Amino acid sequence: MKIVQIGVGGFGKNHARILSQLGALSAICDADPAKAKEFGERYSVNHYSSVGALLEREQFDGAFVCTPTSTHFEVARTLLEKKKNVFVEKPMTYLSREGEDLLEIARKNKVILTSGYIERFNPAVSLVKEYVKTKRYGELIMLEFHRENRMPLHIKDVGIIYDTAVHDIDTAMWLFDDVPEVVFARSGRLKHDHEDFATIMLGFKENRIAIISSNWITPIRVRKFNAVCTDAIFSSDFITQEVKIETDNGTEIPRKNVEEPLLLEIKNFIAASEGKEEIRVRPEHAVNTTRIAEAALLSSQKGTPIYLELK
Ligand SMILES: NC(=O)c1ccc[n+]([C@@H]2O[C@H](COP(=O)([O-])OP(=O)(O)OC[C@H]3O[C@@H](n4cnc5c(N)ncnc54)[C@H](O)[C@@H]3O)[C@@H](O)[C@H]2O)c1
Repeated sequence: MKIVQIGVGGFGKNHARILSQLGALSAICDADPAKAKEFGERYSVNHYSSVGALLEREQFDGAFVCTPTSTHFEVARTLLEKKKNVFVEKPMTYLSREGEDLLEIARKNKVILTSGYIERFNPAVSLVKEYVKTKRYGELIMLEFHRENRMPLHIKDVGIIYDTAVHDIDTAMWLFDDVPEVVFARSGRLKHDHEDFATIMLGFKENRIAIISSNWITPIRVRKFNAVCTDAIFSSDFITQEVKIETDNGTEIPRKNVEEPLLLEIKNFIAASEGKEEIRVRPEHAVNTTRIAEAALLSSQKGTPIYLELK
């Protein structure tokens, strides 16, 4: 597999490192020529400062797009039209309409399209997902997420809902294995150009609920979630990957290895490109997440719940 890395900023440099370790990195592209050169030289691959030049000169099977959200649609569309398998960082697109367009091109060209909903590869989420699926602790009723951080100064194009809360929107749908019927949100802005704190309530069938609380005010990094099942309560930390289970019989902390979710995510994209595995984040799921982010912003502006008909 020959994979190119587009965007080697704060996050994309991690993809480049892992792709190089896996022997799959074939070229680097970044609009900033100095960054393109630095990472091209670091990993001994060709480097480019535009997607056009990359496509003209390189033969490759797939691409990771790790550029700012506002550029995802144009970059991904160009690659899909050239029949490349494409991984786009989250959120897949800013507008759900753009996501639907990408989905259509990917279907027509029979290539893989996915997005960076990395928590699906977090071993803590996988463990809870397994318990929910097997109903070992009964039915999942409620989810609660906390994602807090100091404000990331370089993110100019979107606020906390599109940048941060989308992870938890996706994880809620993944754990419930369902889409919400209603979205209610409140958000506000203290220091950022867009909203920098938000609480979103997602209402699923049979009164199942996910509460997503995100802010760029807390000076430390918090990434936690709780899951309430009929027979147990799970408390988990996305960072330490620990899962604590409390039941009537006491507290249990199942043993598990800490693994790098990004490595698992990249391996899934490569295996899916080779036809060996299903892609875990299907593009229609990524479009749904963008739709819910749109609904959360609208709900917050209008002060009313937004009812959705998602598939
Ligand atoms: N999955 C996660 O946990 C996670 C974490 C952080 C960021 N992200 C996502 O990754 C993406 C990038 O975020 P970041 O923090 O690395 O941003 P960044 O600003 O640090 O890096 C973006 C890079 O893209 C380059 N770039 C911009 N437009 C380009 C274009 N048209 N073609 C090629 N290169 C271009 C810039 O020069 C820059 O080097 C965003 O979509 C963000 O939401 C995901």
